[in-house]
Amino acid sequence: MATAQLTISPEDLSKVPAGKVRLPEPTILVIFGASGDLTKRKLLPALYHLEQNGLLPREFAIVGVARRPLGNEFAADMRAGILEFGEAKEDDPHLESFVNKVRYFAMNFDDASGYEGLKAELDKIAKEFGIGGNRLFYLATAPEYFTGIIENLGVKGLAKPEHGSVRAVIEKPFGHDLDSARELNRQVNAVFAERQVFRIDHYLGKETVQNIMVFRFANGIFEPVWNRNYIDHVQITAAETLGVEGRGPFYEKAGALRDVVQNHVMELLSLVAMEPPVSFESQSVRLEKLKVWQAIPPIPITNAVRGQYGPGKIPGKNGEVEVIGYRQEERVNPNSGTETYAGVRLEIDNWRWAGVPFYVRAGKRMAKRATEISIQFKQPPLMIFNRNSGGECDIQPNVITMRIQPDEGISLRFGAKVPSTQNVSVCPVTMDFAYDKAFGKSSANGYERLLLDAMLGDQTLFAHRDGVETTWALYTPILEAWAAKTPSTFPNYDAGSWGPASADELLKRDGREWRKL
Ligand SMILES: NC(=O)c1ccc[n+]([C@@H]2O[C@H](COP(=O)([O-])OP(=O)(O)OC[C@H]3O[C@@H](n4cnc5c(N)ncnc54)[C@H](OP(=O)(O)O)[C@@H]3O)[C@@H](O)[C@H]2O)c1
Repeated sequence: MATAQLTISPEDLSKVPAGKVRLPEPTILVIFGASGDLTKRKLLPALYHLEQNGLLPREFAIVGVARRPLGNEFAADMRAGILEFGEAKEDDPHLESFVNKVRYFAMNFDDASGYEGLKAELDKIAKEFGIGGNRLFYLATAPEYFTGIIENLGVKGLAKPEHGSVRAVIEKPFGHDLDSARELNRQVNAVFAERQVFRIDHYLGKETVQNIMVFRFANGIFEPVWNRNYIDHVQITAAETLGVEGRGPFYEKAGALRDVVQNHVMELLSLVAMEPPVSFESQSVRLEKLKVWQAIPPIPITNAVRGQYGPGKIPGKNGEVEVIGYRQEERVNPNSGTETYAGVRLEIDNWRWAGVPFYVRAGKRMAKRATEISIQFKQPPLMIFNRNSGGECDIQPNVITMRIQPDEGISLRFGAKVPSTQNVSVCPVTMDFAYDKAFGKSSANGYERLLLDAMLGDQTLFAHRDGVETTWALYTPILEAWAAKTPSTFPNYDAGSWGPASADELLKRDGREWRKL
């Protein structure tokens, strides 16, 4: 297929207004679970990048909280993490001053008296840095600690905004089914008002995800055709080549539906399907997303398929690499019934989407790493070209593809005449917008944007209590039905393939097929 490049001229880019700098108030960021992987690889590098760009307040401190007695070792470890995973060099002028703002407090999350010590420590640090009462608590811990920490923050008076704002960021997974999500919401909201709660899904911090709304609502030409009259169906794919990477015990309890579909994929779906919000304010955006999820009728179990990878070959840096099957992974049950692939057919019963199927799939050890949304349009009512064959290609429907990662961008496929003096033959071509070509490589990971928003109190890109419960309500019956029976066919797809045959069947029933990526 030929590719026509759409590029943005530097003159056009220079017209983009820089906008006002959003600078948070002086704050102490308290990270629970700070000696973990997430803090070192993502959070601290993201915070440091904010500092480099002058987006953190001058009066700012980070207090890491975890069990081991790390002392000053913690700041040194974070410095190493910033150098390894962030965009910093040893001689970076901001590095030392930033690391000086990093402190550590050792405690066991289960020990209620530890929170009194923490409160005193935070007051001391606030005085030292001239911060006042603003606190942002980030729960970067395993989910079993969420409630205990929140309860103790409440009991010890740490959740009350006495002289400033107090907010809590809660990592995923937010519950493991509808009941647990409801219970967690109840416990969280017993201590924090909803406006203080920031349920994080790092997908929403990605530029490409935010751009879905911009693409739809900042341009005049797409919205008129963005409905059941013109769109045949929508596909959302979240494919990884990675396996469980040593996190077997975690994944055994999760699976693809819980880990990716209920949260990331449903977020993408809501952005594609929502009505235009009245403004880009958090309430309006979150309300429109909620309405989409609420319009999805219960999913028949026959519209959900699951898979588990066996051994196979995946693409590596120097050609294909042989990999083991899921059941052979470290600390995974050799008869495991956990799905590493989930595919679902959904409908949205509203005026815009009635009758348009949404097919979503997420899987590990797929043939390619790709997260994308494709909007597949209906064919013209009458096909006057390539009629009696003679054409070199099949005429393909128009497709808008939004590549969330990697190779971030948007493309449009359409038919074009193949140059010839003999006949009119139509072949598909694409117009392509690539983020890196247009704007240069963006280093911002999702966490950078989301941490800044949380400090600013902007909840637009965070999940609301009602949204989380609505998506869990959709998937809990499927999870329960799946849990009741391990399929005798597992493993049912080879690592490095595109998932089980049943996933292809799901679309074949409707006379459609998954896009080849
Ligand atoms: N890693 C990622 O890239 C990623 C991505 C998305 C979401 N998440 C979510 O982020 C959260 C954290 O992930 P992670 O990978 O950073 O976890 P992790 O590496 O397992 O770290 C767990 C942290 O919790 C601390 N901890 C555990 N039990 C404790 C206790 N009783 N008292 C005090 N501290 C305790 C550990 O401290 P000690 O080591 O001192 O015991 C460590 O700092 C999870 O909810 C995960 O699902 C992670």
